[in-house]
Amino acid sequence: MSVVGIGVDIIEVARIRASLERHGERFHARICTPAEAEYCTRMRDPAPFFAARFAAKEAVSKALGTGIGAACGWLDIEVRRKASGEPFIVLHGAGAETTKRLGISQVLVSLSHTEHYACAQAVAVGEST
Ligand SMILES: CC(C)(COP(=O)(O)OP(=O)(O)OC[C@H]1O[C@@H](n2cnc3c(N)ncnc32)[C@H](O)[C@@H]1OP(=O)(O)O)[C@@H](O)C(=O)NCCC(=O)NCCS
Repeated sequence: MSVVGIGVDIIEVARIRASLERHGERFHARICTPAEAEYCTRMRDPAPFFAARFAAKEAVSKALGTGIGAACGWLDIEVRRKASGEPFIVLHGAGAETTKRLGISQVLVSLSHTEHYACAQAVAVGEST
């Protein structure tokens, strides 16, 4: 296993809260998969949870070296949770194609959020040494 790329992101929860208030479901449908949105909206205060997923997607896009765009869109990166609560990344569509092209077999992620900030770190790993 080898490290192919790393990425980190931090975001102010207030920015995401404002977008959620202004655009509601249109905002989270553009950024989050239905399962991600369902998880976040279940929370008493969804904004930090949406912010953490936003940060995770930007961190993953940095680990890939692509940013968010044609090579890897918002909805190509999905944050899922194990029963333990540990997050993991599933890539879809163009994002999955890009990771394949780059020889990335897995993207590891870690999230953290407070009332005001959310951050995420991603590590893209490949099979080769
Ligand atoms: C790559 C991306 C995720 C950077 O995020 P950002 O919020 O603009 O900026 P951040 O402060 O988090 O990160 C900036 C750092 O990302 C790094 N970076 C930029 N492009 C990168 C790339 N292709 N790969 C890896 N890292 C990259 C740089 O180190 C940069 O710092 P620098 O300018 O001092 O060198 C961003 O360009 C992107 O694709 N954002 C999504 C755009 C979008 O649709 N926004 C709308 C929000 S609804």
